[in-house]
Amino acid sequence: MHLPKQLSLRFADALKNLTDDVTYASMIRSTNDPKFGDYQANCAMPLSKQLGGKKPRELAAEIVEQLKVDEFCDPPEIAGPGFINLRLKNAFLLDQLRAMLVDDRCLVSKVESPRRIIVDFSSPNVAKPMHVGHIRSTVIGDSLARTLRFLGHEVITDNHLGDWGTQFGIIIYGYKHFGDPEQVAKDPVPELAKLYRLVNQLIEYRKAKRSTETLAENIAVAEVELSACQQESESISDPKEGKKAKKRLASAQSKLKSAESQLQGANKKIAAVESDSDLFAKAEAHVNVDEAVLQETVKLHQGDVENLRLWEEFLPHCKNEINRVYDALSIEFDHTLGESFYHSMLAGVVENLEKRGLARDSEGAVCVFLDGFDAPMIVQKKDGAYLYATTDLATLSYRLEQFHPDEIVYVVDTRQSEHFEKLFALAKNIGMEDVKLVHVNFGTVLGEDGRPMKTRSGTLIGLEGLLADAVDRARQVVCNPDRIMKIDPPMDAAEQSEVAEVVGLGAIKYADLSHHRTSDYRFSLDKMVSLDGNTSAYIQYSFARTQGILRKAGWSEQSVTSIDPSICEFTHPAERALALLLLRMEEALATVHQDYAPNALVDYLYETAKAYAVFNDNCHVLKAESEEIATLRLALVTLCGRVLRLGLDLLGIRVIARM
Ligand code: ARG
Repeated sequence: MHLPKQLSLRFADALKNLTDDVTYASMIRSTNDPKFGDYQANCAMPLSKQLGGKKPRELAAEIVEQLKVDEFCDPPEIAGPGFINLRLKNAFLLDQLRAMLVDDRCLVSKVESPRRIIVDFSSPNVAKPMHVGHIRSTVIGDSLARTLRFLGHEVITDNHLGDWGTQFGIIIYGYKHFGDPEQVAKDPVPELAKLYRLVNQLIEYRKAKRSTETLAENIAVAEVELSACQQESESISDPKEGKKAKKRLASAQSKLKSAESQLQGANKKIAAVESDSDLFAKAEAHVNVDEAVLQETVKLHQGDVENLRLWEEFLPHCKNEINRVYDALSIEFDHTLGESFYHSMLAGVVENLEKRGLARDSEGAVCVFLDGFDAPMIVQKKDGAYLYATTDLATLSYRLEQFHPDEIVYVVDTRQSEHFEKLFALAKNIGMEDVKLVHVNFGTVLGEDGRPMKTRSGTLIGLEGLLADAVDRARQVVCNPDRIMKIDPPMDAAEQSEVAEVVGLGAIKYADLSHHRTSDYRFSLDKMVSLDGNTSAYIQYSFARTQGILRKAGWSEQSVTSIDPSICEFTHPAERALALLLLRMEEALATVHQDYAPNALVDYLYETAKAYAVFNDNCHVLKAESEEIATLRLALVTLCGRVLRLGLDLLGIRVIARM
């Protein structure tokens, strides 16, 4: 049930004689305060402006006269400058609750025209362990896929693994120069990760060494700029000009600060290597490490027998490593077509673009120049190597041919926005305009200090360790002896482990999904596993409470199949408020799809759990005043449990019956 949609159909009818523009009919919002009804239509004000003449309140009265909503609502009220307040009839709400009891979709209807949607998500570069940055795409993509599928779309998920890029050049180089074949054969995953880290550190060291001079110059320039700004702002007396100068001063200050911190970062990397004699010796012996790594990658791509053999040997181990994380998080894909899968198609992509006159040679590289972009899209480098963009073009063609999607959703970091803008623009130029292409971008996971999350040694924090930490922390919170003692019958060790796992892993997913995807967020395990506030533990606990009440009442979920609206009435506002929220699941899910933003579902679940807490505090279920009241309340408890469980499931989060 999507009430605003139903109501806007009625408004469209009522507005027929006033306007053809359907946007006015859809100006219906839910309210935060029951004083203003449950929903509010705001069309009278802008429409009166548009039509001229009539005052908004008069227009609102005219609209209300034409409006037929009496099977849903009490007579509409006009408020303030011309708001139309709509309050749902209690009988209607009770009717809906009754329908919901026998509907396994919580009254969420399937979309009328299902689309075939490919969700490209997670897609880590393998060869290095997954880190905290990989949470976002994995969790957002999985939740979108689940939600779209539930809404009735045909969803195809594809993990576009980075299994063919420089990262393999890195481990091949590492293996050849520092690897111990016996050790790698015995314990491949940590050995390869070690080699990756070592070579990466050597590369970073070289880069840092090379950059210090430029960075020092940048600082000098920034210092000159700053002192000029300081002098300027001291000499200005006009307050308006003074304000502007102050702004310039602040910007110069922040420029200097950032240049200094960049140099600091580079020096830290240098010191880390130089303070370790063994590492320093390696760095000195491998001055051209970055160039050499690229060479290994090129050789792999050109079919070098040795490198191909090593790649084939290493890849399954790398996949095992990431599959462990997917297993822990219960993430599945329909397809895992990594970059290597498209390798043989890349020459054809470039040829095709050249044939169409879209790509041309520029300083030895093959480039596509696109309107509206400063830099071209490079599809083949001077040395013959293909790029990320080339692979994405091949992937796009393959997907269109193979799957005929209506829509492809790429769940990828905001930093790749330009890449996708170019890819989508080019797709249009080559006749792929029927498919809707969406870059579902997202921000960065920050540490508690507000900086990108790193370990003390400066590497990104491994995802597997983080998941284990979350489970541990959850165990301390939910399975502490004080809490456990109160649970009857007592939880055995196996149940405690299950609870810790479900709460800990849920916490990580929920915390990520609770922020709008485009904002950065601070990763704080303590906050995530808390039982209070907008956390998965709070929602899971609310669910467990519903189950506890049903257990105590001796009801199974199935036993509540009907409430008789002729004898049932709301006897407390908390019942009505909860009922109203329970009917709003579809609205939340529609927003998730519209904005590709799972936080709309998170917000909804949090609101619902809070309404449930108020209901719990105010409305006795087991000691209700009458049997009718008890039945209605048990129905609300049952439905609330179902809504919370379904919602969490669409976020990829499990529930437990007691905690
Ligand atoms: N492997 C890429 C990375 O880690 C993300 C790939 C996203 N998908 C795509 N079709 N480009 O940055």
